[in-house]
Amino acid sequence: MGKDVIVACDFAGARETLAFLDKFGSARPFVKIGMELYYAEGPEIVKKIKERGHRIFLDLKLHDIPNTVKKAMAVLARLDVDMTNLHAGGGTEMMKYALEGLTRPDGTRPLLIAVTMLTSISQDVMANELGIGGQLPETVIRYAKNAAAAGLDGVVCSPLEARIVHESCGAGFVTVTPGVRFADGDAGDQKRVMTPEQAKSIGSDYIVVGRPITAAPDPEAAYLRCVREFVD
Ligand code: C5P
Repeated sequence: MGKDVIVACDFAGARETLAFLDKFGSARPFVKIGMELYYAEGPEIVKKIKERGHRIFLDLKLHDIPNTVKKAMAVLARLDVDMTNLHAGGGTEMMKYALEGLTRPDGTRPLLIAVTMLTSISQDVMANELGIGGQLPETVIRYAKNAAAAGLDGVVCSPLEARIVHESCGAGFVTVTPGVRFADGDAGDQKRVMTPEQAKSIGSDYIVVGRPITAAPDPEAAYLRCVREFVD
């Protein structure tokens, strides 16, 4: 599994996003498009970024009945994205249907990654609001194992969970980890952060990096620094 840096393009619209991507010379980073940008601009933004030679992680976190997710995934596969995701909380059957929908007639498909328990959910909320017993990391692992059993490629998780996910689901099961900051950078609203080097040593396969690159005075230099520290 090739390690890579994914740049989170958390911009409100196409204009800001394309202006940001214009700042790159020869580098063509893997980019993450989230709900805000996709809902604002629709499939066109995916096509435009794809045409510029970027790979795309479409972060729409689908969660619905299996048949609906299958049909929605078929649409995303036709958009030619490289990676997309869903909520493991939708259940194993939903995940299996999603894979079927995502598989193109020629047998190829984007990587399919599951969100386990959102990092915004605390132990207290999980237990007392959602009514899920046990400890939060156990739920994360249970959901990751369900995703692996359904045939998915990996999970989004904290870099702190990457090692245990690999231990539970196999070394080839992909971990996509946000919450990355340079050693001399500002953590911002992220509570538990790791440097690209730490994420590498703990076994993350892909790191998702937003503001340390999008808000840098020279985004391409910041991106290349990330690649040096994480991949090389
Ligand atoms: O700017 P920053 O590097 O914090 O951006 C991280 C990206 O990863 C954002 O798009 C954020 O929504 C996403 N993410 C996260 N934590 C999670 C899941 C996704 O930061 N648990």
